[in-house]
Amino acid sequence: MVFTKETQMFGLLFLFLFWVLGVSTNGVVIPSALEKCHFPAVFNFGDSNSDTGGLSAAFWAIGWPSGETFFGKPSGRSCDGRLIVDFMSEELGLTSYVRPYLDSLGLDSFSNGANFATGGSSIKQGGYSPFHLDVQISQFRQFKARVIDIVNYTQHEKGKADLPKPEDFSKALYIFDIGQNDLAFGLGNSSESETLASIPSILDLFSAAVQQLYSEGARVFWVHNTGPFGCDLDKNGCVIPLNEIAQEFNTQLKSKLTQLKANLAGAAFTYVDAYTAKFNLVNTAKAQGFVDPLDFCCCREKVVVNGTVYGGSCANPTKHISWDGTHYTEAANKWVSKFILNGSMSDPLIPINQACHA
Ligand SMILES: *[C@@H]1O[C@H](CO)[C@@H](O)[C@H](O)[C@H]1NC(C)=O
Ligand SMILES: *[C@@H]1O[C@H](CO)[C@@H](O)[C@H](O)[C@H]1NC(C)=O
Ligand SMILES: *[C@@H]1O[C@H](CO)[C@@H](O)[C@H](O)[C@H]1NC(C)=O
Ligand SMILES: *[C@@H]1O[C@H](CO)[C@@H](O)[C@H](O)[C@H]1NC(C)=O
Repeated sequence: MVFTKETQMFGLLFLFLFWVLGVSTNGVVIPSALEKCHFPAVFNFGDSNSDTGGLSAAFWAIGWPSGETFFGKPSGRSCDGRLIVDFMSEELGLTSYVRPYLDSLGLDSFSNGANFATGGSSIKQGGYSPFHLDVQISQFRQFKARVIDIVNYTQHEKGKADLPKPEDFSKALYIFDIGQNDLAFGLGNSSESETLASIPSILDLFSAAVQQLYSEGARVFWVHNTGPFGCDLDKNGCVIPLNEIAQEFNTQLKSKLTQLKANLAGAAFTYVDAYTAKFNLVNTAKAQGFVDPLDFCCCREKVVVNGTVYGGSCANPTKHISWDGTHYTEAANKWVSKFILNGSMSDPLIPINQACHA
């Protein structure tokens, strides 16, 4: 190609338009890739990967030494500190971490949204937890209905200040991180091939949940795929057949999101490859300052607090990827979050604070 003045001008004009309009990876023109979205609230649905205290409030409290690294006390999370969803709240500038819907004694307000995720939850009913995705969606619908009711029919200003505004529901970011327990439960109670065969029906339920939220006004969705399985180790600290099933789930999840985007006018979907972020961390653990991946889990040492022995936790969580054999440490969550928040693991490739343009 010969560079004439015209082609140069055209190139500059094209670059300028690219910059002004922003063009997403799938070629769709979006308002401006540089403009930040304002999310007044976050609503999160999921399992223990993003449970900020729901299960702990509903059943038995998660005790020491959970929370020790960041909160200085148990915080209801299966972790020594913050989860990926907490790093998201920080990035989005929310005034507090998303409060669990089930936590009736929380000091944080619901003004920035609510967290419906609970440990053990699956998409399909009948797994480890009673709070499967459909229950979480019902809880959200009740939450929304009650917020609107309170705002319309009470004069209690202090009470209203602790709630989202009715218009926030259509401007909020809706996050999903769920599916791992469907696969784990399937593999624990049926064969690999039966588990594989169940994936389409699990994703149909996921799709129905998204459509319910859409009909309630939700428009911006940020969906994490399912991570690699934990602690039964091959040389990278992962179980190969289980991970093949996780990858198949993820492939089908991604095409489900493409379908949803095509069918739901005005909705924005970001598919987040948390699997690859987590897998890369395990694969390069040593280079990242963590212990050897063969020492992936830090569930070996016991901790004594005031004479009580607590098992299943680790003495030095900042050097380990896994907190308890299943859940990641804060250090690992922080590492993974850096890749997830800036959009480098996303389709389309945009950071979380621009997800409304997806
Ligand atoms: C609440 O108030 C808004 C605005 O005044 C109105 O549009 C809406 O229908 C009311 N909702 C309920 C459930 O009363
Ligand atoms: C198999 O199912 C039972 C309940 O039906 C459940 O308690 C158990 O945890 C499941 N096993 C595995 C390994 O997932
Ligand atoms: C240990 O016990 C002392 C005295 O009973 C108490 O002040 C302290 O808070 C306890 N520490 C923990 C971590 O529970
Ligand atoms: C995202 O953050 C990671 C980790 O800091 C970095 O390696 C990567 O280059 C960043 N990507 C983009 C697109 O900013």
